[in-house]
Amino acid sequence: MKKRLMTGFTPTGKLHLGHYVGNLENLLKLKSEYDAFLILADVHALGTPSFSNLRYAEIQGYTIDVTRDLLSVGLSEDEVTYYVESEIPEIYELAALFSMYVSHNRALRNPTIKDEIKVKELGDQFSLGFVNYPMYQAADILCVKGEMVPVGKDQEAHLEQAREISKTFNMIGKNNNFPEIKTLIGRVGKLIGTDGNPKMSKSLGNTIFLSASPEEVEKKVMNMYTDPKRIHSTDPGTVEGNPLFIYLDAFSAEVHKNQIEQYKELYKEGKVGDVELKKYLISVLNEFLEPIRERRKQYDDAKVLDILKKGTEKAREEAKNTLREVKETLKLIY
Ligand code: TRP
Repeated sequence: MKKRLMTGFTPTGKLHLGHYVGNLENLLKLKSEYDAFLILADVHALGTPSFSNLRYAEIQGYTIDVTRDLLSVGLSEDEVTYYVESEIPEIYELAALFSMYVSHNRALRNPTIKDEIKVKELGDQFSLGFVNYPMYQAADILCVKGEMVPVGKDQEAHLEQAREISKTFNMIGKNNNFPEIKTLIGRVGKLIGTDGNPKMSKSLGNTIFLSASPEEVEKKVMNMYTDPKRIHSTDPGTVEGNPLFIYLDAFSAEVHKNQIEQYKELYKEGKVGDVELKKYLISVLNEFLEPIRERRKQYDDAKVLDILKKGTEKAREEAKNTLREVKETLKLIY
């Protein structure tokens, strides 16, 4: 029997190139080796303050968009079970029970929570649910007994907390109902934005979406930040940290590698202009995105909703069994 892989996505925006190198390519590599489950964490999206108050009505649309992005990169419904968090009440129940075994202090000490408060400038404007979210994430994982959980670098702390919860419950129950959670962290922790900002993020408008049209790719790349010290194309340029080369390295097929190495040398010597390189990057990115665009055509909204519905039914059956085991452990069966 194949081991269970699971991971999740917060539907607050479409997926972009950063998600690809941050996690999706790992999922594509592992999908045939594992029995894969992916959750669309729409309740988690409500924990994002701007969404809970102002934009909650957009979450459902993004749940469909993100699922379509995942299907289009090649994580097909035949190989992956897709499920929606809000449609599985057993996740809430598990999260509530888990939260009884996590100290208040431990919840507030979670580095990803602390980091998110800082990065998103939340100040003290975040909900109880936001701090409690790692308990939901543990429930997302453990309701289907996820063993391998590939994530982006920013999620490591949440997985540590999930691992602790899984161990605690195995100890209380003196059983090994829950697997030991293993993880795989993506190749690129943070992909630099097209504007040179260290993090690609939809709120900064410096992203290239996986659903970008050739025209959008062209526009983003032509406006891309390169080496700010280089005024003329005959000036020697810096390759290190330059988004042009970071993207070329990250998204080019093997056949381009020699050419890219040559361009790097020419750039350092001031023998190739930004415009030529940008045009090259546009073709590399479009080559990368083309098969994704092609697959996307098969997935209209109705098809995506049907995939989510079927996957959620399947995951819910497992979640019911898991909840029953946890309640048996805690002597909560009447
Ligand atoms: N918190 C994750 C993020 O914001 C998404 C997520 C929800 C997740 N549930 C999960 C990731 C379970 C891994 C496992 O990216």
